[in-house]
Amino acid sequence: MSADTLQKVFKTLSDPTRVRILALLAREELAVQELMAVLGMAQSRVSRHLGILREAGLVSDRRDGTFVFYRFQEPASPAWGDAWSLVERSLAEDPATRRDAVAVARVLEARAARSRSFFDEVGPEWDALRKVFGDDMLRARAIARLVPPGLRVADVGTGTGVLALELAEAGLEVIAVDHSSAMLDAARRKIDEQAATGLELRQGDAAALPLVDGEVDAAFAHMVLQYLASPHEALAEMARIVRPGGRVVVIDFVRHDREWMREELGVQWLGFPPDEIRGALAEAGLSDVRLDVQPPAAQGADLPETFIASATRSSPAPSGVPS
Ligand SMILES: C[S@@+](CC[C@H](N)C(=O)[O-])C[C@H]1O[C@@H](n2cnc3c(N)ncnc32)[C@H](O)[C@@H]1O
Repeated sequence: MSADTLQKVFKTLSDPTRVRILALLAREELAVQELMAVLGMAQSRVSRHLGILREAGLVSDRRDGTFVFYRFQEPASPAWGDAWSLVERSLAEDPATRRDAVAVARVLEARAARSRSFFDEVGPEWDALRKVFGDDMLRARAIARLVPPGLRVADVGTGTGVLALELAEAGLEVIAVDHSSAMLDAARRKIDEQAATGLELRQGDAAALPLVDGEVDAAFAHMVLQYLASPHEALAEMARIVRPGGRVVVIDFVRHDREWMREELGVQWLGFPPDEIRGALAEAGLSDVRLDVQPPAAQGADLPETFIASATRSSPAPSGVPS
């Protein structure tokens, strides 16, 4: 390693705020405003540190409408990698790091609360709004990926239960989960009206699904990821609740720039780049990842493209063979 590189590594990592920022971003992707709240610092200071870290190749950024989100980036060079592992190990015992972790949990809760209050207000009106999110063809394709019938599936973020009812109709046993009691009430009313069977409603968060490991053969999330505080966490949860060999199916918008959707539809994220979804599914321990992009649901309307992604949870290694 050259003396210049060594000096740069030490200089960058010698600042406690920069180290705190790196530790935070290694845990969660955060916007500048969220970092300001966690660190209790002004924008100019946070942005200056982020600039230095980006220049060192330790953070990457991503625009989501008018927000810019930052995340930790594994250092490409061994010099940076070694230095960061050393710092990271020493942070495990650091009380400030533990306090920051609590503050990040509060930021994620604030993201989740925004979505909860939107859906608690919308309730049954959702059926009119949801037309923006998809068409029957997409749902039918999603179901087709799950044949044969008789499987037990989870519908994560079930809303008013439209997809859950379709899945039950197709002969699947459905556990429908949502964190909003208004949405679950609306779903319950619909199930009663249709005297539908094979559905169970459970209230819970996508980041901590109320299902045990491997409880279902497949898990769906239709237009839900864009509402979540941490979509990565939810994908990991979906991977956890499917049995080995089971499938995770996610339908959502491809990255777009329709800012109006934040206000009018309460979304947290303006869609997702397909590569990010492929990466997140693989990171969740899923394999055989497939992703197709579909044109906008309503023809002629100014709507984004939709993606449908599916992936399989690998079978566990045969006994005696470490996985
Ligand atoms: C856009 S709606 C989609 C509903 C349904 N999947 C559909 O296609 O009609 C998003 C749903 O996700 C739920 N949701 C949002 N964040 C959630 C979370 N963190 N945990 C569980 N459900 C969540 C909302 O309450 C809402 O019912």
